[in-house]
Amino acid sequence: MSLTSISLRNVRKHTDTEINFAGGLNYIVGGNGLGKTTILESIYYLCTTKSCCSKSDANVVKFDEDIFEINGTLEGLTKDSATVIYSVASGKKQYYLNEKQIFKASSVIGKFPVVMLSPSDHAVTQGSPAERRKFIDSVISQSSRTYLDVLLEYQKILRHRSALLMRIREGDFADSEMELEAWNQKLMSAGEQIINHRVDFLKGFNSYVAESYNKIMGKMESPGITYLYLGGTKSDNISKTFKDMLSEYKVDEIRRAANLVGPHRDDFIFEINNINLREFGSQGQHKTFQTVLRFAEFFYIKDVSGNTPIFLLDDVFGELDAQRAKKVSEYLSDIGGQAFITLTDFGNISFLKAGEKDRVIKLNEDSKIAYA
Ligand SMILES: Nc1ncnc2c1ncn2[C@@H]1O[C@H](COP(=O)(O)OP(=O)(O)OP(=O)(O)O)[C@@H](O)[C@H]1O
Ligand SMILES: [Mg+2]
Repeated sequence: MSLTSISLRNVRKHTDTEINFAGGLNYIVGGNGLGKTTILESIYYLCTTKSCCSKSDANVVKFDEDIFEINGTLEGLTKDSATVIYSVASGKKQYYLNEKQIFKASSVIGKFPVVMLSPSDHAVTQGSPAERRKFIDSVISQSSRTYLDVLLEYQKILRHRSALLMRIREGDFADSEMELEAWNQKLMSAGEQIINHRVDFLKGFNSYVAESYNKIMGKMESPGITYLYLGGTKSDNISKTFKDMLSEYKVDEIRRAANLVGPHRDDFIFEINNINLREFGSQGQHKTFQTVLRFAEFFYIKDVSGNTPIFLLDDVFGELDAQRAKKVSEYLSDIGGQAFITLTDFGNISFLKAGEKDRVIKLNEDSKIAYA
């Protein structure tokens, strides 16, 4: 799939910007603060209805304006025009596909797969377990509708169950025991599906991680992801462990009115040659691993869905040493898809060459576009 053109109106610094893209690698080059990341953010909006970079859509609207609008033409199995409009005054966001309004963001997920590597990925390898779950869940969701549905269902169960725990704690609920038991059944059923899905996913995904790692490092090492579910138990009998833990934590759950057992508390360990990256990795090793994860995600989604994602790489060369940066750039020429790569200075990275299918897009001091 590829994005042939985009237009931005009042998107952060971009008052009125139109860009035509190449089908291969698009290098977006310009000084700090000129609006390079904003272009990636806009592409991400078109593919997902959401910002990659800001929790608030209002922040993305140009200062002193009311509305931002992003338009783009996407070509894959079909040719689609997508539009995102947000108004600060109404607080509403609208998404249109071929001029027809789409009301559920989840119906867009997976249609235009997108993979983004950004400086905020440091949270995936260095941050809390929630960041790793978000990463894993988003890779599986983009390639499995079943998983996305059970994940949404599970989140609903968690909300209902914590409200129930709260009522039990307040002591004003007569049939609480029976109702809690019913919600436990639902929690276990959806939770087990999530755990099993993640286990199966990693069996396949780990080989993608190994391949990407060895491409970028240029040597054979053994990277891997280990899944720690239900408190790190190695149990094969997930149902029984889940049930036992719910009994064990029952008093605590009521006291804290919180869901303390289930896959929403799981973690994933990233390792290189059995060494825990989070505990022992250097800055550069973290950046390398983050890059590896995104390449692995890209190829995984491409193979599983048969729909080649759009690849967004924000400032990937910033923290990598010359040798790794060169490997990444060679790897990029092999992706067989479209990528958008931001850089502050094309000239400084001597090995970068734009091929026939590639394009260098320059942002000038006034944030205007020029094609090199
Ligand atoms: N809502 C907004 N309205 C107007 N300008 C904004 C808004 N939000 C951010 N900006 C400005 O836009 C610029 C940030 O754009 P962006 O992050 O796309 O730049 P960049 O080219 O990626 O920079 P860097 O090289 O530092 O990563 C900054 O100058 C910032 O002040
Ligand atoms: Mg930037």
